[in-house]
Amino acid sequence: MEGKGKTVIEVREAKKIYRMGQEKIRAVDGVSFTVDEGEFCCLLGTSGSGKSTLLNLMAGIEKLTKGEILIKGKSIGKMSENKLAKFRQEYLGFVFQSYNLIGSMTALENVEFPLVFKRVSAKKRRKMAADMLKKVGLKGRMQHKPKEMSGGQQQRVGIARAFVAKPAIVFADEPTGNLDSKTTIEVMDMLKAMARKNKQTVVMVTHDRKLTEYADKIINILDGKIESIEIQEHSKEGKFLDEDTKDNAKTDVQESAADVGDATSPKGTKTDDITESLQETVTEMMSENTQEEPDKAPEESKDYLEKVNMDPAAKKLDEAAQKILDDLKSDK
Ligand SMILES: Nc1ncnc2c1ncn2[C@@H]1O[C@H](COP(=O)(O)OP(=O)(O)OP(=O)(O)O)[C@@H](O)[C@H]1O
Ligand SMILES: [Mg+2]
Repeated sequence: MEGKGKTVIEVREAKKIYRMGQEKIRAVDGVSFTVDEGEFCCLLGTSGSGKSTLLNLMAGIEKLTKGEILIKGKSIGKMSENKLAKFRQEYLGFVFQSYNLIGSMTALENVEFPLVFKRVSAKKRRKMAADMLKKVGLKGRMQHKPKEMSGGQQQRVGIARAFVAKPAIVFADEPTGNLDSKTTIEVMDMLKAMARKNKQTVVMVTHDRKLTEYADKIINILDGKIESIEIQEHSKEGKFLDEDTKDNAKTDVQESAADVGDATSPKGTKTDDITESLQETVTEMMSENTQEEPDKAPEESKDYLEKVNMDPAAKKLDEAAQKILDDLKSDK
């Protein structure tokens, strides 16, 4: 198994208790485990067992009631909201069951988006995003908006977006939950191959035992507790689609530049200006997002669905993105 050794995530006696009126729900009830660098880790359990809550705790989306979670040696519970937001941008990628792509943006723009935070120049961003989309077999769909793509294609855009900035860790919550079985295998293959290629760590939630064949480590969850931890020495490796490999073989800088040349960049605009204004807008937008309900989060549940689906955030991004795109277009 690759990646055996260095611990990248450490969960110590993590607890998340929700209060619903008189009732206390122990969604995560004192779990401890570690995830190694480069490991593909599955959180497996039935519906309501606490998998998503645990993942959200690990990703800093939910706040712990008790315990501690260390990522790369840093305790995420002790970080300020701003620091946590920066930390997420720097080290974490996300894949969601419902894809959560920005509806007004093309596939290419969606994948390009995380690179804005990394201060990558517009030109380079575009090339990196295009290369990534080719890798996931979507060379012919770069200019499509999410609603112009199938579920499997949208999730491949989701994977490209999660991996494009080369985050150390990718969190995925039922990434194939909305897909048929053939597409599920394609997406899982891609997820695994992508992670292995760059020695990235993946923590994936699933209720589907079959999918754990891809995992190096399986954490079995029941009623908020760890039932058992299994290590698989020979997990199933992923692969890119054959057609993508062919695509990739042909790819060179010029070709990808030509593909995306007039995608979003109005001719004659100074890309650095655009990058800067885009960066400012996005930073502003994200700090608005992350300032929501600063400290009262632990016991609150009313925003549960919204949080899990990230709909408010997606909507906000959507609006802001549209504004950015309009600005870009009028900025000749
Ligand atoms: N914000 C919340 N407020 C109250 N209860 C919550 C909240 N979030 C989760 N729960 C409860 O905690 C338990 C674990 O929920 P969680 O979403 O983590 O389960 P899951 O294993 O991801 O399930 P599924 O497979 O259906 O997605 C459930 O009983 C759920 O009802
Ligand atoms: Mg869930």
